[in-house]
Amino acid sequence: MLELVRRLFRRQKSLYGLDHAVLNVVLPLQSMWMNMGYWEHTSKFPEACESLLVEVLRAGLLKDKSQILRILDVGCGCGDSSLYLTQKIHTNSAYASIRDSGSQAHAQVITNQRPIDTYVGVTLVPEQAALAQQRINESRKLDQGAESGFAEVFCADAANPSSWPGELKDSISDMADTSSDPKVGTWVLALDTMYHYHPSRLPLFQYANSTLNASIMAFDLILGPETSWKQRFFLRFTCWLTSLPYGNFVSQEEYKNLLVRAGYESSQIEIRDISGHVFPGLVKFLHQRVREGTPFGLNVSKFRAAEWLFGWWANTGVIRGVIVTARKS
Ligand SMILES: *[C@@H]1O[C@H](CO)[C@@H](O)[C@H](O)[C@H]1NC(C)=O
Ligand SMILES: *[C@@H]1O[C@H](CO)[C@@H](O)[C@H](O)[C@H]1NC(C)=O
Ligand SMILES: *[C@@H]1O[C@H](CO)[C@@H](O)[C@H](O)[C@H]1NC(C)=O
Ligand SMILES: *[C@@H]1O[C@H](CO)[C@@H](O)[C@H](O)[C@H]1NC(C)=O
Repeated sequence: MLELVRRLFRRQKSLYGLDHAVLNVVLPLQSMWMNMGYWEHTSKFPEACESLLVEVLRAGLLKDKSQILRILDVGCGCGDSSLYLTQKIHTNSAYASIRDSGSQAHAQVITNQRPIDTYVGVTLVPEQAALAQQRINESRKLDQGAESGFAEVFCADAANPSSWPGELKDSISDMADTSSDPKVGTWVLALDTMYHYHPSRLPLFQYANSTLNASIMAFDLILGPETSWKQRFFLRFTCWLTSLPYGNFVSQEEYKNLLVRAGYESSQIEIRDISGHVFPGLVKFLHQRVREGTPFGLNVSKFRAAEWLFGWWANTGVIRGVIVTARKS
């Protein structure tokens, strides 16, 4: 068949190369993860992404004694976290995949499992919202008979709760209704997303505190404790290039203050630096992917830039990757 394709497109020289790689990729893709990953126990991208989610869930949920969980997942992307939370966490396959990835600790989340009663995902990109909802629906069809709560994904700007569409607010108001019930744990989950928020994280924090009465668990980026003015200047430049708000890169102290301003108690806030298990692994993976992908004509140019930027963070500590939890009780 390849020969036929070759003849049909004889004039296109590139077809003599390696670009039939695209025909060998297994579609639909098994996962569409996109975060910085937690690389302590793996060198595979999807596994690292799932591990980062598990690390954040562990930080938030292990100490939460409520019997029912409700989660607002801001920046849910193509729905991999949605699937993990609504489906995988209930099945043995999740347990096995996590155990096989070599982390004993990870299994704790699963043994402590409770059903997620309400899951609402939010993403800014319409195609991602559609794909995420479709994947949730499909996984439910396969999982008939299993008791599953409510799971929906919306396209909205998580940074600006006042702009959220009515249906999203309706879904969330169900969460808010029972937020004073001690049996119900309401959480805002933000996996590798809030440093993008224009103009700041504060509106979401305030909404989480005042409207949802929710605890927060997140993987986020902050400014390292010892940065020179030259480094900050260069950081400002890279923010401009990547259209990230520079003002979001605040110190750990300022980050805490922001949560306190939104209504969280200082004693209920924890920030843990996990940079060592994030940036070096990611840089190594990107380096390998660029090297392996280039001969097949995969367009890896933007990942080359990302590799360089994350390498700078890893080597200087200018930016730190942290797990943040802010509890309501
Ligand atoms: C998913 O399922 C819900 C109801 O179960 C339905 O309203 C919605 O249209 C479905 N969405 C997609 C993208 O399949
Ligand atoms: C908020 O949640 C806490 C703990 O879950 C609860 O004790 C408190 O009554 C709730 N406050 C409101 C205003 O619902
Ligand atoms: C945080 O939320 C509580 C209700 O859970 C509310 O009483 C308090 O005023 C809020 N704090 C701020 C600063 O809005
Ligand atoms: C590769 O992607 C970059 C942007 O990510 C784009 O500017 C460039 O034109 C692309 N190159 C090719 C050969 O498609």
